[in-house]
Amino acid sequence: MSVSISNLKNAAPFAAFAMFFGVFGGSLFLSSTLTAQTTVPASVVTLLPGHGSAFINPLAGTQEDGFVDLFNGKNLDGWEQKNGTATYEVVDGTILGRTAKGSPNSFLCTEKEYDDFELVFEVKVDKGLNSGVQIRSLSKPDYKEGRVHGPQVEIEWDPGESGYIYSEGTKRGWVSPKRTQKNVLKNEGWNKYRVLADGPRIQTWINGTCVEDIEMPAIESTKGFIGLQVHGIKKNAGPFQVQWKNIRIREISGDERRKMKAFRGTPKVDGKIDDLWVGVPRVLTSRSIDEVDELSEDQKASTAWVRCLWDEGHLYCLAEVTDDAISSAAGDEWDRDGVEFFVDRNFARTSTYDDDDAQYRTEPDGNESSGSENDLSTYKSAVTKTENGYIVEVCIDLKGEVGKKIGFDVQVNNDPGDGRRMSAMKWNDASNDTYFDMSNAGTLEMVEGN
Ligand code: BGC
Repeated sequence: MSVSISNLKNAAPFAAFAMFFGVFGGSLFLSSTLTAQTTVPASVVTLLPGHGSAFINPLAGTQEDGFVDLFNGKNLDGWEQKNGTATYEVVDGTILGRTAKGSPNSFLCTEKEYDDFELVFEVKVDKGLNSGVQIRSLSKPDYKEGRVHGPQVEIEWDPGESGYIYSEGTKRGWVSPKRTQKNVLKNEGWNKYRVLADGPRIQTWINGTCVEDIEMPAIESTKGFIGLQVHGIKKNAGPFQVQWKNIRIREISGDERRKMKAFRGTPKVDGKIDDLWVGVPRVLTSRSIDEVDELSEDQKASTAWVRCLWDEGHLYCLAEVTDDAISSAAGDEWDRDGVEFFVDRNFARTSTYDDDDAQYRTEPDGNESSGSENDLSTYKSAVTKTENGYIVEVCIDLKGEVGKKIGFDVQVNNDPGDGRRMSAMKWNDASNDTYFDMSNAGTLEMVEGN
C-alpha cells in the first residue's frame, strides 16, 4: 500500500493549532433532545494571544514522560459530546458512558485535535455493548450533518475484534485488513490500551499485546479529535455502560528522532523473509523528503517496512518496498527506484562523512551503488520481486554487540516511470542531506531480541 504525499504533509507539526487553545472552563450540558447532528459545547475556550507552541492547559498536568492527562478525573472540561443521546458522566475518577434508548452512536470528543501521538487509556465495557475510541476524527456540518467519522480503535467483549481499526461513519468498514488474532481484551475488569499513531503507521496494544500494526490508507483522516464511543443499541437491549480512566496522550512532533531495535541473528541474504525475520520489530519510511516532494495528490509515494538483525560482524536490513511501477529509466542512481541505507557506525552524529559513515543503495534490478567515499566491498545485497513491489535484503560490515547504538536511516526513492525521482521517503531524517550529514539520522540499538 502506498501513501499520498499530501496526506503525509498534513500529519506534520501540531504547533500551529496548539497556539489556538488556551484555558478550558465550564461544564458539560446534556439535553435529551440531542440528535446525530448535535454538538454540545463543553466549555468556553479562551484564546491565549500568540504563545506559539507553549500551550497551557491548567487541568492537564504535564508529566516528565511527555504525557498529559486528557481527562482530569473531576469533570469533562476539554471534552464535548457529538451525536447521540447516550450520557457521559464522571464517576469515581472515571468517565462513565451509558446507552440511551433510540440513540444513534454517541461520542464524547476532545475539543483539541491531534495528528501524531501516543495515547494510553484504561477501559471496562459491558457485555453486549460495542464501543471504541476515535482517533484523528472529524465532525463537519457538510459531511452527513456532523456525523462523527474517522478511524476507530475497537473495544468489545471477547469474542470480538478489540484493538483493530474500523473506519467509523464512512461506509468503508474495517481498515484492519485481517482481524485474526484472538481478542486479548479481558471481559471482566479494566483493560489497558495503547495506540501509537505516527504518520501513516498505526499500532495498537491491549494489555501489552500488540494487536495491530498497519499503514493507514491515505483516504483516512490524518488529524482530528479523540472520541469515546457509546454505540447505539437495539430496541430491547441494554442499558449498557462503558467506563474509561487514565486517558493520557503524548504528542509526537514531526521531527522527533526515531529509534528502532535490531535483534541478534544471522540471516541468509537472499531477499527472502526467512524465519529469523519473523517477530523483529519493523519501522516505516513515512517521512517525505520535502525537496523531492513533487507528487500530485492522487499519485502515490513508494514506502518500505524495514527491520534489522545484527551479529558480531554485520548489520542486516530487510526492506519490504511497495511500488506499483518499477522503473530504472533515470540517469542517476538516486533518481531511480531503489532503497538507500545510511549508517553512522561510531554514532558520532557528524555533519560531514567520516570513515565510519556510509551510504549504500540497491535498486530493484540488483544494481548497487554508494556515496563516493564508501567501499561497496563492505556491502552485500539481494532483491526479490513481490506482488506489489520488491524486497531488498542487505548485509553491511559493522561490529555488533548487545546495547550498541548506531546512527541509521533508510530512504526509498521512487520514479513513477518518467525518468525522474518524484518521491523519496525516509525513516527518520526528512532532509535530503543524509548522504553527506549523519547528524539527523535515527537511532538503531542492538538488543538480544527473542
Ligand atoms: C540523495 C540525492 C543525492 C545522492 C548522492 C541521495 O540519498 O537523496 O539527492 O544526490 O544521495 O548519492
